Amino acid sequence: MSWGLKNRISKIIKPKTGKTVMLAVDHGYFLGPTTGLKNAKETISSLVPYADTLMLSRGILRTCVDSKIETPIVLRVSGGTSILTELSNEGITCAMDDAIRLNAVGVALSIFVGAQYERQTLLNLAKLVDEGEQFGMPVLAVTAVGKDMARDARYLGLACRIAAELGANIVKTYYCKDFSQVVESCPVPIVVAGGTKIAEKEALELTYNAISEGAVGVDMGRNIFQSDYPVAMIKAVRSIVHEGFTVKEALDLFEKCKKEKQKKFD
Ligand code: 5RP
Repeated sequence: MSWGLKNRISKIIKPKTGKTVMLAVDHGYFLGPTTGLKNAKETISSLVPYADTLMLSRGILRTCVDSKIETPIVLRVSGGTSILTELSNEGITCAMDDAIRLNAVGVALSIFVGAQYERQTLLNLAKLVDEGEQFGMPVLAVTAVGKDMARDARYLGLACRIAAELGANIVKTYYCKDFSQVVESCPVPIVVAGGTKIAEKEALELTYNAISEGAVGVDMGRNIFQSDYPVAMIKAVRSIVHEGFTVKEALDLFEKCKKEKQKKFD
């Protein structure tokens, strides 16, 4: 691994704890103005002080994020579809030289194992890895799950392993029953998404279980920015990921932080 690649990965996975809290705010690239991200600038500026990395598209980066930001950027570089069409029909939407110009520390691309355009998305990943190797840019493969796919250890294990085999440096997936089997069969670090909004206690349990079973962190969006108390929620998630808090301790922190004045995002 080149020095640049290792250095960029260390901006994502914090060397002090070996863990990461990535804030995913890339949802608009196929969902449009999602709840909690309608005013992306406001959501991002409120939450970014508590995120280790920000995952987003270049359009939102350029228009909604202060260029003096210190938080490292992982750029979403796949897309080309919307919620109204076949989601797996993605291509690469941002060139590697622009990712470098934008000072990204990583690029993220979805793969759709088992979906109609599986092959295309896997070849997109292989191409991105080739370019990433050339420029020292880590590639995060997002194992996006199509409508008809089960989110179980067998499916997610398959998708994560394929992503690693094709050269992804980090894999993003979902937490599931027997998650440790997914981790054990994937030779690169795994971060988990939060998925659709659930109660805060459940999202903290998901975080705790994922970390206990071997994830290096979260790349979480809706369960943070759609919470009625988004700042309290990201602080509670951080406490589990970086400080080893139990679910109860994290919930106590959440309740305490709820009392601080904060805004729910539209
Ligand atoms: C979509 C993504 C999202 O960033 C991902 O789903 C994470 O967000 P959430 O925690 O809301 O699921 O990569 O493909």
